[in-house]
Amino acid sequence: MSDHLDALLHEKRIFYPPEELVKESNIRKWMDERNIKGYSELIKRCEEDPEWFWDELAQELDWFEPYTKILEWNPPYAKWFADGKFNIVHNALDRHAKGWRKNKIAYIWEGEDGRRRKLTYFDLYREVNRLANALKGLGVRKGDRVSIYLPMIPELPIAMLACAKIGAIHSVVFSGFWAKAFKERAIDAGSKIVITADAFHRRGKLIKLKDTLDTVIDDIPTIEKVIVVEHLKTEVDMKEGRDVFWDDLLKGQEKECETEILGAEDTLFILYTSGTTGKPKGVVHTHGGYAVGTYTTMKFVFDIRDDDIYWCTADIGWITGHSYVVYGPLIAGATSILYDGAPDYPDPGRLWKMIEDYGVTIFYTAPTLVRMFMKYGEKWPQDHDLSSLRLLGSVGEPINPEAWMWYYENIGGRRCPIMDTWWQTETGMHIITPLPISPLKPGSAYKPFPTIKADVLDDDGNSLRGEGGHLVIKTPWPAMFRTLYKDEKRYIESYWSKFPNIYLTGDVGRIDEDGYFWIQGREDDILNVAGHRISTAEVESALVSHPLVVEAAVVGKPDILKGEEIAAFVILKEDVKPTQHLKGVLREHVRKEIGPIATPSYIGFVDDLPKTRSGKIMRRIIKAKLIGEDVGDTSTLANPEAVDELEKAL
Ligand code: WT7
Repeated sequence: MSDHLDALLHEKRIFYPPEELVKESNIRKWMDERNIKGYSELIKRCEEDPEWFWDELAQELDWFEPYTKILEWNPPYAKWFADGKFNIVHNALDRHAKGWRKNKIAYIWEGEDGRRRKLTYFDLYREVNRLANALKGLGVRKGDRVSIYLPMIPELPIAMLACAKIGAIHSVVFSGFWAKAFKERAIDAGSKIVITADAFHRRGKLIKLKDTLDTVIDDIPTIEKVIVVEHLKTEVDMKEGRDVFWDDLLKGQEKECETEILGAEDTLFILYTSGTTGKPKGVVHTHGGYAVGTYTTMKFVFDIRDDDIYWCTADIGWITGHSYVVYGPLIAGATSILYDGAPDYPDPGRLWKMIEDYGVTIFYTAPTLVRMFMKYGEKWPQDHDLSSLRLLGSVGEPINPEAWMWYYENIGGRRCPIMDTWWQTETGMHIITPLPISPLKPGSAYKPFPTIKADVLDDDGNSLRGEGGHLVIKTPWPAMFRTLYKDEKRYIESYWSKFPNIYLTGDVGRIDEDGYFWIQGREDDILNVAGHRISTAEVESALVSHPLVVEAAVVGKPDILKGEEIAAFVILKEDVKPTQHLKGVLREHVRKEIGPIATPSYIGFVDDLPKTRSGKIMRRIIKAKLIGEDVGDTSTLANPEAVDELEKAL
């Protein structure tokens, strides 16, 4: 990490976007129409009157009944467009299916095995309506929760939209999460219905999703029905009266379904993300503000136009997929690629071949992938024609300048600006991000999106310049989360308690002399493994749930490819032999409990863990020891000898 920080601190290069791209960009045209000369004037006007900006953009969407108030801000509670009548699905789908985009392709789907499907807005509309009618038939009503556990197949966005259409709340669980993780989330949401699939392929291997679900479904008391997509038509157990195949359910359903007229502040979805305790946080987003925020950033950050072929490689199971594979692109009427497969399968040319095949113009991915392809070498992208690309994006973790340069040169051909977008599950939309008109510094996420005030503070709340501190957001934005599901207290404690009325992001950032933001990573006990947020506590509790384990401490070990890897120190029950084989067993256990992304790369057995006198595990000290840094003052520890123990385990 320190090499990385060093590189960031010394990065001075600036890259300007091509003149033609700037001239043609949505943001430049929008400013021209309003006589705004440049970026600084835009920011000034937005700071003076943020509601003016959001009102203008909200007007580009359809409202069943107009709002009269734009923002009501009673920190930490924001309401946007609250008295407007709205449904995001009307904007993402209905209006396109009934207008000139009717036969425009919404999704080009490709499976790992090379299968392809294309769905127009009209196709999507009819499928969504059929499922929405079926859900109503099953008794799903406004406000009911539906858990969705599907791979990256068209049925995933169809399921989300069908829920939202009838005012039900979807809670998508990433298909890479396994049984226990799914169970926890479905119980917390109190879902009536689960929508899942038989199986899918990853790296050629068959992943049996329905079988995984079967191991926990009986522990989720609220579940009434399980809808199963026969994606690969593999053998599955169907429980009489509870389980139903998607195709059987949709047979004969009407292709029209009234879209529920909702309030803008009605809940659209719950998406779980890792917090510092083992219990995931249910982040709540609403219809109106979320639609306006994702649409606006699609338009101004990704510069989306009707002739674009847009590809965000994120899985829909994460917020990036919710905002920038499903809602943002559909509201903008875009054509997107949906790929269900590993990025380097069957070979490292897969993504580049797809960019060439479909003529992708905007490509949004994660630094961990860029670094992986860097390792595979330039040969793979060079074998393909990537000249259709005009804009690149990055998200999920800080992109180191070397990876930025590689991406810029080898994928973007030095002509595509990189939008390094900083945001979170909680923010719902890009917060710190360049626009296509911005001069870029490799490794910096540029500056806050128009109207948003972000800052870096010391512990006392003073603004810092040139040094690292707490990254905070001082003004509300439309797509911000409204609360944590059924956990108001945690909402306030986690985000709004350190500094009054200021949103604490949990990241460390630095603002340089030109006002550019440099994000340095999390400041809490959350790991960022290949762009995925994983809480140390969640992995620890999975380890401790194994019958041979007494206690565990999990820390992040810096890794060139993944950003961080998971390292676990484990105390075994008495008389259990610490064998190599047992390490494998524990890794497999975590994998089964949470999913492949949470599997520890390192496991060390110890007799003791360094703790404070109040019994808190000192992960900071464990981490320092792990990466060979000075562990600092250990005098506050109850058991300083435990630090030497760690050494033996490595
Ligand atoms: C955390 C949020 C919404 C993006 C997908 C992850 C890190 C995200 C960047 C970036 C540096 C980034 C932060 C943030 N992060 N984007 N461009 N540069 N760090 O969403 O799972 O809610 O994780 O991802 O640490 O807090 P998430």
